[in-house]
Order: sequence, then structure tokens, then C-alpha cells
Amino acid sequence: MCGIVGYIGNKQASEVIINGLKRLEYRGYDSAGIAIVNGELNVKKGKGKVANLEKMLSSVRKGTVGIGHTRWATHGAPNDINSHPHTGQRNKLALVHNGIIENYSILKKKLIEQGYEFYSDTDTEVLAKLIESFIENNKDSLLEAVHHALHQVTGTYGLAIVHTDFPNQIIAARKGSPLLIGIGEDEMLLASDASAVAEYTDKVVYLDDGEIAIIKKDSYIVESAEHIELTKEVHELALSLEEMEKSGYPHFMLKEIFEQPKVISDCLRGRLDVEQGQITLGGIEGVMDKLVNAKRLIIAACGTSWHSGLVGEYLFEHLAKIPVEVEYASEFRYREPLIDEDDVMIVVSQSGETADTLAALREAKSKGALVLGVVNVVGSTIARETDAGVYIHAGPEIGVASTKAFTAQVTVLTLMALSIAQHKKTVSPKRIKTLVKELALVPEKIGEILEHHEKIEKIANLFTYAPNFLYLGRSYSFPVALEGALKLKEISYIHAEGYPAAEMKHGPIALIDEMMPVVVIAATQHTNEKMVSNIEEVKARKGRIIAIITPDNNEVEDLAEFAFSIPETMDVLSPLLTVIPLQLLSYYIAVNRGCDVDQPRNLAKSVTVE
Ligand code: AGP
Repeated sequence: MCGIVGYIGNKQASEVIINGLKRLEYRGYDSAGIAIVNGELNVKKGKGKVANLEKMLSSVRKGTVGIGHTRWATHGAPNDINSHPHTGQRNKLALVHNGIIENYSILKKKLIEQGYEFYSDTDTEVLAKLIESFIENNKDSLLEAVHHALHQVTGTYGLAIVHTDFPNQIIAARKGSPLLIGIGEDEMLLASDASAVAEYTDKVVYLDDGEIAIIKKDSYIVESAEHIELTKEVHELALSLEEMEKSGYPHFMLKEIFEQPKVISDCLRGRLDVEQGQITLGGIEGVMDKLVNAKRLIIAACGTSWHSGLVGEYLFEHLAKIPVEVEYASEFRYREPLIDEDDVMIVVSQSGETADTLAALREAKSKGALVLGVVNVVGSTIARETDAGVYIHAGPEIGVASTKAFTAQVTVLTLMALSIAQHKKTVSPKRIKTLVKELALVPEKIGEILEHHEKIEKIANLFTYAPNFLYLGRSYSFPVALEGALKLKEISYIHAEGYPAAEMKHGPIALIDEMMPVVVIAATQHTNEKMVSNIEEVKARKGRIIAIITPDNNEVEDLAEFAFSIPETMDVLSPLLTVIPLQLLSYYIAVNRGCDVDQPRNLAKSVTVE
């Protein structure tokens, strides 16, 4: 989704900003732009990649203050005019914006009545003109004008603003869209994502909603919406540059798929005592009583994280014996949910910035529920607003299609379910010990699957041009079927559906003929017989079966046209293994089709609008 980078210091601002924008490319965008202040305002912007913008910069006057943006269109088509930065009428003020201004048409009407002219279809241009109007009419400073303007605005924003009459400052403001200040030596950066500043500094200050900052080369002041100066904590970033590079892989997605053995080991480190069969999750120890006595768990998330949540539903009900509801975060608050202080909500989010998930979190908190986070990005808004939580420690996930975050989320949810089960004594110590032992072996087993990646590549080569795919699973394999289908459609643009295997006969079976590849995930023992019947139903209609099986599942192997075997494991842990071949299948198909694997069309890595 949209990205913001700002720089003020001694370096050429355009170089730092372009570097930062490149780091943000993974978030998904359709156009890019930059504004440099150096006596005058220099703005370059246009549809397309940051590389196109870079080519335009030879004609820009050098300067040490500037702001840049990657846009993911919400209001107005992705084109040169609608790209950010947007400017005021006098060409002195430039502004970049993430988020949506909901009352922009009312504000625009008023500004037109005052004589302002608009050139774009965006909601953002209204902000540029509105702030400028306060400087001109009220003789406000830039900071005061931003305060005044934002009092009139309804909506969400992460904002960066520069003005030629206030040449040694950048103003930043946040409501609902992340922003952080990077503190350097005689230089300051501003960004919507830490990856854009990590090359220059490891010290950051996260802005909270309602805050406005005035950023100078050697200082910054953060104020509340009421103009009160705030003391902000300086956080240390733990992002290494290497983690943000492809390290020899052709795509981030492939790198991240292959990182999974290490990611799961990191995620388990210090949390599992295999000898004692003991689970320690420091992040939720303080709320364990509440979890043990929870009347109900509500898991809210979006996309892949929602699929992890579905695995969580099986885990918590099966192991911890707590009733679970898994909610699309986007639907949660609009159906007046019945939730109170006896409930516990778990929000699952890789980025920790997903607007729908954040809205569900706030709704649950406002009704008195305890809210826990299962989050990847340290210091993200969701991580900061939850009452407690467990980080998944997957490292930066750059590929838009989530892979390692899914397996790390499922790992953390497994640990949480086991830990509650241990406290509630809903699972015997002996069985917990066996589960813990098996969990510790998961990284090695993922490694074994990855060693056979060519086998999946061969299957992918045969199905590259299939127009549709069906994915079927039962029990723990059902969320994996959904995730497999989502991965394929996201990066290869092939229409794919995930279904509970038995549900197929209630409709989708009508689609099956000799052209339809059906991926069956047959890796849970207790549903195998029923799964075999479902596979027979597909076969009877000439569907082409690709099966993910456990080693001794000869019955399914014989029925399938292609079978890929995962190492032996327990049903509860099977999603951590069965998803790997499906990630690889979608990857190889997308590469064969010439798709932009890491930045698929129309998608954004972190969806910060509702
Ligand atoms: C997954 O491949 C996605 N691109 C998407 O569905 C993602 O999982 C969803 O937007 C939720 O993101 P989050 O985990 O950062 O909250």
C-alpha cells in the first residue's frame, strides 16, 4: 500500500528518498513521486515504478530536504496527475498522504468557493489546498496550518508536508496510517515503514494516532492534536539489511519459502523445553489466568492471517477446549458483535498495520475484552495496541504473498494452545511431551520437503496454463486448502477455490471435468477415509488429482495422478508441512506464467485502508 519517505539532513535528499522508496516497493504501488525543497519546490511524479521516477530526477535541483511517495490508488485512477506529492495553488507546498480523507468532497467544494482550483481526482489534493489556505488566510506557520486543517478532516492519514517558506522542516501527522521518525546523526528520516530507514539509523520514534511532528535536521518535536508537546520513547530497530535483500534468490517469495526451517526454529527458540515437555510464552504469562478461564476466544484477522486463525480454531478447541470463533476482521465490527470482558480476542497480523484488523481490535477493547496479538512486525500499531501478545519472529516478509509468516503464525498459535492446555490440564503431560517433541522436529521436516522442490516444479510445469484450480481439505487441512488457493490466485492470477472436501458435492462438483486440477490435502489420519471418498468423487468426473499425502497413504497415492509426500507428523502439526508444497506450486506456476511474483498486480503488502 502507499509508502512515505522523507529526509532532512546534509545528504542529497533525492538519493535517500529513492533508496527508501525502493525498500517500500514490496508494499505494492502503482505510481511514485518526490518533492525537493531548495529555494523552490521541485516535484517529479508519475505512474509506474520507482525506477521510472529515478530517471526523471536528473532535471531536479539538488536539495537536502524532501519527501517521496509510492501510491496505491484509492481515489482516482493510477496516473501521473493523481500521483503524489500534491501541491498547493502557489506551488510552494507539497504533501504526500497515505490513507483516505472521507469528507474530501465537502472540503473541496468549500475550497473551490474560495477560488482554489483542483487538477486531480484525489482526496489528497484537498489537504494540500486546505493547509495552504490556513497559511495564506490566517498567516499560520506550516505547523499551525496543519493543526488547523486536520481539525476539519475526517478520515485516516499518514502525512508528510514541505513548504518553501518553511524550508528547514518537514511536518508529519498520523491518524490510522503508520509513520515513524528515524533519528540519525545530523539528519532525520520519516517513513511509513521501518525498512525505509534501516539503512541509515536504528533509532526510531513511532508516531501515534492524533500526533503531529515538526522534524528538523537535528531535532524533532512531537505534539498532540491539542498542541501539547509529548515525550516519545526512542525504539531500537532490530532489522538487518541482509534480511531485506534477496540473497541470491530470484525472488523474495522463494527466499522466504526457503527460510521457513530457520524461521520456525527462531520462533520456537526459548519457548520450548523438549526434555520437560514445557512451553514458555513470556508475552502472555501475565494473562494466562484470563486465558484459562476464557468463555470464548475470538480470532480476528484478514487474508492469510485469517487462514492461520482457522488453524488456530482447530488447535484451541482440540487442545485447550475453548470455544473459538474466527472472524474476518473487516466484518467483525459492522455486525454489532456480542463481546464482553469474559471473551478474549486474538488478532493475527504479519504487518501489524492492517486497518480492518486494527478496527476489530479497537472494537473488542472498547467492549472490555482482553486483546492479544500474534504479530510479526515489532513496534507495529497492532503490537502496541494489544494488551499482550506473542511475536512470531519471522523477520521482514517482503514478498507480497505471505509464506513464512503463515507458518510462523501457526507455530505461535500451536504454542499458545499447548500452553493453555498445559495450564488447564486438558491434555495429559505425556501427550504434551510428545507434541512438543514433534513440534521441535518441524523445521527439519520442512527442510526435507524443500529438498524435493523439483518434484513440485515438475507438477507446476504441467499445470501452468490451467485456468482454474480447486483445493480440497478436511479438518486441519481445510485452512491449508484455502491458503493454497489464495497463494495461487494472488501471484499467478489463476482462479482458484479452497473448499472443505465434503462441501464440494454441495456445489463445486459441477465444475469438475478433465480440465480441472484438484489439489487434495490428505494428511490428517482421522479424516482419511472420508477424504478417499471425496477423491473418488473427483476421479469419477475425470478431475486431475494432485495429492499432498503422508508417507504411507497408498490409497490416496494410487488414486492421484501426482502425489507429493510430506514427512510423517501428527495431525495437529500437519498444516506446518502441507502448506509448503502448495507455496512452491503457486510460486513455480507464477514464474512460468511470467508474473511479477513479489509484487503481484493490484495487491498491497500491508492494507492500511478499510
Ligand atoms: C497474503 O498473501 C496476503 N497478501 C494478504 O491476504 C494478507 O495476509 C492480509 O492482507 C493480512 O495482512 P496482515 O497479516 O499483515 O494483517
